[in-house]
Amino acid sequence: MQTSQSWREARQTIRNQMKAKRLALTTQQQTSAALDIIPQALALIEHYQASHLAFYLPFKAEISPLPLIKQLLTQGKSIYLPVLHPFSAGNLLFVQYQPNSVLQSHSFGMLQPQLDIRQVKPLDELEMIFTPLLACDKQLNRLGYGGGFYDRTLAQTSAINVGLAYDCQLIEQLPTEDWDMPLDHLILGDTA
Ligand SMILES: Nc1ncnc2c1ncn2[C@@H]1O[C@H](COP(=O)(O)OP(=O)(O)OP(=O)(O)O)[C@@H](O)[C@H]1O
Ligand SMILES: [Mg+2]
Repeated sequence: MQTSQSWREARQTIRNQMKAKRLALTTQQQTSAALDIIPQALALIEHYQASHLAFYLPFKAEISPLPLIKQLLTQGKSIYLPVLHPFSAGNLLFVQYQPNSVLQSHSFGMLQPQLDIRQVKPLDELEMIFTPLLACDKQLNRLGYGGGFYDRTLAQTSAINVGLAYDCQLIEQLPTEDWDMPLDHLILGDTA
């Protein structure tokens, strides 16, 4: 029987493997994957007729939603980015992003918009949340960095949640935990 210790270790091993895999991608592979997800995401957003969409700013070699965000802004969609909650540890707030938004580094080294309370979008008003991840499987399980930020966020909203990843981040079956929030959809960018 799996002990919870070895289960946790298995998750950590997959995280480390995936970080290395992503870093091994060439700039060209990263760029073409970021473009490959655009038509897939546009079709899904169109399917849900969604206008209020949360994304993320790519950290390290995460698949970049920025070319997609650029197109969505020209379509008049409202885009929101996560900000670490200043008082409620482990939780995210979503702030509206515009091309002139000021971005700053937070404690984990990722970029985030400045927290302006007037720009915070209530979680239940977000229609779709696009999440980064380290690994995923065909059953739509998602493994993140281990902070539980998206698990907590997705547990509090009925927004459609969509994982964005490179095709090489898909594995046969992820070891899951009770609190993991599965994805509604998974969009994979081709790195071939
Ligand atoms: N809804 C929740 N409420 C409270 N704690 C939670 C919740 N979801 C997850 N956690 C806690 O967060 C921690 C990390 O969870 P996990 O390893 O699944 O993170 P992850 O899915 O890799 O990260 P992320 O969600 O940030 O992408 C765990 O200790 C877990 O107990
Ligand atoms: Mg999780």
